[in-house]
Amino acid sequence: MNLIKITFQDAASGARTVEVEPNGTVMEAAVLNNVAGIVAECGGGCSCATCHVHVDEQWIDRLPAPAPEEGDLVEFLDGAGPTSRLSCQLELTPQLDGLVVRTPHAQG
Ligand code: FES
Repeated sequence: MNLIKITFQDAASGARTVEVEPNGTVMEAAVLNNVAGIVAECGGGCSCATCHVHVDEQWIDRLPAPAPEEGDLVEFLDGAGPTSRLSCQLELTPQLDGLVVRTPHAQG
């Protein structure tokens, strides 16, 4: 299986690109690679919002729309913006090769 690249941008530590298999989620890719700034307290259950990322504007339209549960959580999240998503709800596919997301200054 071909690996895909995901870049996590972090204001404190700069950008980090990881290569992962195109399955699982963006959150899992971050946790497996010890990416700073993704806490993922609920383990992907769409209930904690500590996996929040800002998706690069060039990528936001290429992602499936959020499910209502995700939309509700993001709506009330401190620091959320127009491209905010929960990374545990972003399924990795080969089409997301090159995805760029920014981690928030703080989670939770
Ligand atoms: S890991 Fe908890 S909402 Fe994503």
